[in-house]
Amino acid sequence: MQVYGLVGNPVGHSLSPPMHEAAYDATGVDARYVTFEPERSAIADAIAGADALGIAGLNVTIPFKQDVLELVDPDPLAERIGAVNTIDFGPDGPKGYNTDAAGVTRAFERHDVELDGSVAVVVGAGGAGRAAAFALADAGAAVHIANRTAAKAEELASVVPRATGGGLDTLERIADADVLVNATSVGMEAPDETPVPASYLHADLAVLDAVYTPIETKLLGDASSAGAVTIDGAWMLLLQGVEAFELWTGLEAPIDSMNDTLRSHLS
Ligand code: ATR
Repeated sequence: MQVYGLVGNPVGHSLSPPMHEAAYDATGVDARYVTFEPERSAIADAIAGADALGIAGLNVTIPFKQDVLELVDPDPLAERIGAVNTIDFGPDGPKGYNTDAAGVTRAFERHDVELDGSVAVVVGAGGAGRAAAFALADAGAAVHIANRTAAKAEELASVVPRATGGGLDTLERIADADVLVNATSVGMEAPDETPVPASYLHADLAVLDAVYTPIETKLLGDASSAGAVTIDGAWMLLLQGVEAFELWTGLEAPIDSMNDTLRSHLS
């Protein structure tokens, strides 16, 4: 039996265990998925220990995604994003990947949104914003990053191909965009809050909200009213997990089983 897991702090409410175990059930993979919550000062020991114990793979979440970059051999995308969310423990030691980026592009693909040649706005320049900006740019979008702290958006834009950055006063660019990603925490546990004025939303837009608590955010409600394509945060959560499952097992992920299980845990 293989052991996979999630390392973060806290990880108590994570939906990754049921989602991945649904995938093992559907494919017959003999594995378990468990959570680990080390102290921040112990993360290097934790990764080395996982390797020594023969753990097959780990997802990584807050606050360790940047810390882990130094502890594994990161692939070029994880290195550019500056964060690792998936570790594969192979015979040559731990390798690091960032499947959050694939979560973004696969979410748009599944909704038939063409990213190549599109104009995209990413709101937020934290961990999720970085993954989204690189993912969209690598898929051929011209990306604008708008962030409350403008300097962080400008810094990110300087390393993302063809990107521009600015403060929240640049959100008006959404009016001319094809794609919008909310990569801030605005709306999380706050169904009346949105990072984007509804007046900027329009029918030619596809909107991905990384927030999935609640699953129906104000942003997605406003986007739906404006006639936009809406993609909720469960898609991003699902598809980063799908990408990790495929990377670890080499099998095609049972997306429907994983999606059903995930959505049964979300309201
Ligand atoms: P994550 O890893 O989930 O992206 P993070 O790195 O803490 O989390 O980033 C949170 C993002 O949400 C940031 O872009 C943050 O903006 P700042 O860089 O200015 O802090 C954004 N954010 C959080 N609260 C916000 C608010 N009330 N209004 C606008 N943006 C907010």
